[in-house]
Amino acid sequence: MQSLNSILDQFENEIKKVVSTTDLASLKSRFVGKQGLLSEVLKTLKDASVEDKKTMGARANEIKKIIESSLDQKNEELESLEINEKLLKNKIDFTLTDSVKDLGLQAAGIHPVTIVQREIEDIFLSMGFEILDGPHIEDEYHNFEALNIPATHPARDMQDTFWFADKKHLLRTHTSTIQVRGMKERKPPFRFVGPGKVFRCERTDASHEMVFHQLEGMMVGENVSVANLIYFMKTLLSEVFKKDIEVRLRPGFFPFVEPGFELDIKCLICGGKGCSVCKHIGWVELLPCGMVHPEVLKMGGIDTEKYNGFAFGLGLDRLVMMRYGINDIRLLHSADLRFQSQFKTF
Ligand code: FA5
Repeated sequence: MQSLNSILDQFENEIKKVVSTTDLASLKSRFVGKQGLLSEVLKTLKDASVEDKKTMGARANEIKKIIESSLDQKNEELESLEINEKLLKNKIDFTLTDSVKDLGLQAAGIHPVTIVQREIEDIFLSMGFEILDGPHIEDEYHNFEALNIPATHPARDMQDTFWFADKKHLLRTHTSTIQVRGMKERKPPFRFVGPGKVFRCERTDASHEMVFHQLEGMMVGENVSVANLIYFMKTLLSEVFKKDIEVRLRPGFFPFVEPGFELDIKCLICGGKGCSVCKHIGWVELLPCGMVHPEVLKMGGIDTEKYNGFAFGLGLDRLVMMRYGINDIRLLHSADLRFQSQFKTF
């Protein structure tokens, strides 16, 4: 009994001196570990009387509990001390001022996607378009059904989707959801653009990301034609690039437009010779578009006898890549200040 009590005294003496979680772990194993002092004393009990075994066993358990609870308490104290110490050492001023400079990092400017997005918004505002926003978390109806893509339609496979556990909600795969919402809330004639993030469960490469940006556009009125669509697309590109660039228009399939087109741009990274961005074909898919399918207009509450319209879905990140000669889309989300600081705007 004396040895047991002296173990407790010794422990209480030693724990006061412990200053790190590593030292605490070795103290724990020395006192209550399998080969620890407490076990060693209990081993000597094998020849003791039944009565002694009972009282000594009970006292040993009591001591074990006392030791374990003060070990826990000390561990909590030391952990929070260590965390606070680390925080003090690695202190960053999130207002991005002096501490960033101290760390040798340069403050960067506005993200290139934001720069180009704002420019395009201005271009469309000047042509009488509104700017709309929409939720990132969508339901099946707005992402698929209202766009003429029912559950069994193979076009759902074209966009690998992040579903929520309820299997009803998802991260929007395209900004065409903004079309659906914008159309429902307006009476023709109307025209708007809707930029934003979209999400697809994709394997990434030089021109594919899982989170990227699109900019949706829609115009509905009387006698809207493919010529109107081409006019707005051309104006958009000439304003963004401020020079003539080669484009090609080819048929494209999307269940929500008829006819549908793919507008590709001659790859400005390789000049059309072929590289990893254009997948060695010299052209980059940039701006799918078309005349809005009458079924989609009807679902949006629009009288298709009187009105028709066009829509497009610009791949914003790819446009940014072409504009600045960025040869890998993944740089845009890298959060690398060496990349970002090249776009200083202040
Ligand atoms: C669509 O998302 C249609 N909603 C676009 C549309 C709108 C068509 C209105 C007709 C009318 P698509 O899946 O092709 O289409 O994507 C549009 C553009 O987004 C592509 O041309 C491309 O520039 C860009 N894009 C697509 N997937 C990725 C990706 N993983 N990473 C980066 N950009 C991408």
